[in-house]
Amino acid sequence: MLSIASRLRLLSSRVALTSIKPIVQKSAVRTVPVLCARRPYATREVSYTVDKFPGYIRNESFKKLTDQDVDYFKTIVGDNGLIYDNQDDLFAFNTDWMHKFRGKSQLVLKPKTTQQVSDILKYCNQQKLAVVPQGGNTGLVGGSVPVFDEVVLSLQGMNKIRGFDNVSGILTADAGCVLEVLDNWLGEKGYMMPLDLGAKGSCHIGGNIATNAGGLRLLRYGSLHGTVLGLEVVLPDGTILDNMSTLRKDNTGYDLKQLFIGSEGTIGVITGVSILTPHRSKAVNVALLGLNSFEDVQKAFKQSRVELSEILSAFEFWDANALEMFKKHATPKDVMEKEYPFYILIETSGSNKDHDDEKLTNYLENMMVDGVAEDGVVAQDETQIRELWSLREGFTEALGKEPAVYKYDISMPVPKLYECVEDMRQHLRDGGVFGQPDSPVTDVVAYGHVGDGNLHLNIAASRLESRVSALIEPYLFEWVANHQGSISAEHGLGVAKNEFLGYSKSPVMIKMMKTMKNILDPNGIMNPYKYLPSH
Ligand code: FAD
Ligand code: MLT
Ligand code: ZN
Repeated sequence: MLSIASRLRLLSSRVALTSIKPIVQKSAVRTVPVLCARRPYATREVSYTVDKFPGYIRNESFKKLTDQDVDYFKTIVGDNGLIYDNQDDLFAFNTDWMHKFRGKSQLVLKPKTTQQVSDILKYCNQQKLAVVPQGGNTGLVGGSVPVFDEVVLSLQGMNKIRGFDNVSGILTADAGCVLEVLDNWLGEKGYMMPLDLGAKGSCHIGGNIATNAGGLRLLRYGSLHGTVLGLEVVLPDGTILDNMSTLRKDNTGYDLKQLFIGSEGTIGVITGVSILTPHRSKAVNVALLGLNSFEDVQKAFKQSRVELSEILSAFEFWDANALEMFKKHATPKDVMEKEYPFYILIETSGSNKDHDDEKLTNYLENMMVDGVAEDGVVAQDETQIRELWSLREGFTEALGKEPAVYKYDISMPVPKLYECVEDMRQHLRDGGVFGQPDSPVTDVVAYGHVGDGNLHLNIAASRLESRVSALIEPYLFEWVANHQGSISAEHGLGVAKNEFLGYSKSPVMIKMMKTMKNILDPNGIMNPYKYLPSH
């Protein structure tokens, strides 16, 4: 590992840059393991949502499933297109990724075509059978699993790529295609998906759209509200809404597809997707820097927009607690020799390596000369790029291995992001639940998408306790509202945040949302008990 001074000497001598080696020697980026995909279910007790969070009451206007209903569904999807009454096989569909929420569905349906989805919903609507659409089941707010006995409608059997326009980069696909599968398929054609997230190996593009997922490159490629060009949706009564436009510009009528982006399965099932995909960049660089304050994180971000501008494709941050959490659950441990209070991961993506290397080198040099960053490493090949990203993407999984975690994904003006974390730590200490050896809260961990003003605040605990929840909520949501923020920047509402929607939306807006829900789903069968406040 070179000292910072040596690095600066090398940097300022402007040696010929065939790669960005002057920043760091190859050995400086050590192997960061990818954490295992998911704990085996069998090793962990998961209690039912209704027992863990009392207060839910089953809506008795929903019919209870009968054997006759199952026989009818068999005529639609066949004997192999469903799972019925087999607790072992049903478990994974009833339980969320975090093992926090669990329902009691007796039936999972796995349609293979849009027409089958339509036939299923038509029947469910007539019979008043409640339904939960489910994609890859990686959602983090309990939206993808039943609360009671709702039928699970899994999209995993709808996984065909429908078409690709190699000139405009427009992809059409079934909603059940796995994000990473699409990205790899596009990669062979020189394109990529416009979004990327840690759950890419499991989440579906339909689930991404239903949650309006943001992810790691939103600052470069924008939100799904911009990149999704068309959708095919089956409405709760079985009507197929074919809006699979492949046009970039279309100003005719209300833009109905927008309503379903981020609707979390409450007004229809997304079955098909048309999405604009960018060219895969030829030159990608990833750098990791250690910083001493969040003030410096902001300075680095501001300057990255000036100096890296059009090639900047990600700007992520995490604090020392996040790194500690990662180390607790994964080895080997260190990427940089020294530890810092804050880290930033910067990615550039462009078409000319020499140009990008020079820009990044200038930027990094300025960061060090100005005293914003003290130390840093730059990945020198694909493997190292993946290693740095798996560190960033590993926090979610590491936290998932804690006995309990209160997860928040809030957005607000960037200067306020870390104040929120510090305030929460103090608030929990003042409340007597954090800071002592026997405190239920064991850590407060922060990371997030600085470029999007999006903080992931994670409160790890030895157990879920009502006095801890009562201290966090609605305190945090009030804090966020007072700073003109949103209580959910990307994970959505599900069952975790629906009752707090009023902190981000006005009574008039909520009333209008409820009106729209009632028009599209008058029987309320789609993903009940979630998304909108119950009162
Ligand atoms: P599911 O979890 O199955 O469902 C999510 C919601 O969408 C549910 O309400 C469900 O009913 C509904 N739904 C699913 N499919 C459909 C459909 N076809 N039609 C209608 N409704 C449907 N989110 C981010 O925004 N940014 C991140 O960076 C990010 N990183 C993550 C990293 C990890 C490790 C994990 C586990 C999650 C992460 N998430 C992130 C959460 C994110 O919401 C999901 O990963 C993803 O978008 C959900 O897709 P899914 O297919 O798993 O949907
Ligand atoms: C992330 O940015 O890593 C995801 O949104 C998941 C999380 O918040 O843990
Ligand atoms: Zn995120």
